Amino acid sequence: MTKTKNSFLSYADRRFRLSGKALVENGHPYFVPTDALQARSDEWKDGYLSMSHYDYLGLARHPQTTMAAKDAVDEHGTGVGASRLVGGERLAHQALERDFADFLGVGGVLSIISGYLANVSVIQLLLGPKDLVIVDELAHNSIMVGARGVKSDMLTYAHNDLDDLDRILTENRENYARVLICTEGLFSMDGDITDLPRLLDIKDRNDCWLLLDEAHSYGVLGPTGRGTCEHFGIVPNRIEVAIGTLSKSFASSGGFIAADADVIEWMRFCLPGFVYSVGLSPPTVASAQAALDILRVEPDRVTRLRGNSRRFLRRAREAGLNTGTAVGEAVVPVLFDTPEECVFVAEALMQQGIYAPPVVHIGVPKDLPRIRFFISETHTEADIDRVIGAVADASIAARALRNRISAE
Ligand SMILES: Cc1ncc(COP(=O)(O)O)c(C=O)c1O
Repeated sequence: MTKTKNSFLSYADRRFRLSGKALVENGHPYFVPTDALQARSDEWKDGYLSMSHYDYLGLARHPQTTMAAKDAVDEHGTGVGASRLVGGERLAHQALERDFADFLGVGGVLSIISGYLANVSVIQLLLGPKDLVIVDELAHNSIMVGARGVKSDMLTYAHNDLDDLDRILTENRENYARVLICTEGLFSMDGDITDLPRLLDIKDRNDCWLLLDEAHSYGVLGPTGRGTCEHFGIVPNRIEVAIGTLSKSFASSGGFIAADADVIEWMRFCLPGFVYSVGLSPPTVASAQAALDILRVEPDRVTRLRGNSRRFLRRAREAGLNTGTAVGEAVVPVLFDTPEECVFVAEALMQQGIYAPPVVHIGVPKDLPRIRFFISETHTEADIDRVIGAVADASIAARALRNRISAE
């Protein structure tokens, strides 16, 4: 293909430049194959340490999950067959959904090929031209894309600011037939938590619906990992729709929707992202099922994860690092004044065998660069202390460099 002024290639390049191509043109820390890093572990004095994987409960390499996946392939093969509606349905899908509904205490669960698609497709199914969707300004991209794609109006409220949400509703509620509020339980970028009791009060008072994204909450929040409702002691059926993912605590991939049984039955026949795509493949279902089974009998994994997360947060604060609004539950960002400092620190970590890529442009507001650390149940106290020590030292070096450059 040639690259003329109006060609497709020129257009793609222009769009990429607008999105920050310059930042990644001359080398970058993204798309690093982590299996290759693991294989090079001997190169670092203290070995390779991942702070960038979602395996919160340490189940992705658990013998029960890996064996379940292998057995499923042996028994059912690797393919998905077809859309579940017309040939792709398997007993294992039904068992997983029943067990998740039972675990979460909801009427029904529907699994779907990705958590991202769950948000996009559910928001689009629920709303029409007479409706309004109100989204936390820092909600996940899949919620934003879903909300922007509907014919309804869309408004955002300041991050986790329920006074702002209340104000927006007071000013706008009567103009719309239905209003859907979308937010996350445990926020994936900031590691803070929605004040669910107050949010439910606002929602009910204004006769709205709530979509709560629990991608990072299930397996993490609450004494036994049942999510934001368990964290606050709230019955789950006060939420209209919760979205989960299998790619984090559940050591697999894919997403799911949790709602009243009748709502799930409607979606089983009518949710476009479910009906016009395929179901989870046999090893994907089997590993998620095994992970859920383990979590049910070993809730102490959640306790250990929490202990590690709290230690990480405490040590980071003691070291003078800026952890923003994080509460110490699996996701803890360290924020930097400039993208340059953030990248400098991430590179210094990598030189010591610690992989935690910087989040500087895509994914967070430009003025809030950060390294987002994912804590796992498998991390040791020594791992956590090693990371905090390395971040603290590199941050001091980065600031010294910045001061030297500005003095020159
Ligand atoms: C808050 C949130 N929602 C949804 C998703 C999408 O989930 P999945 O990885 O299953 O597509 C993610 C993934 O990172 C997420 O962080």
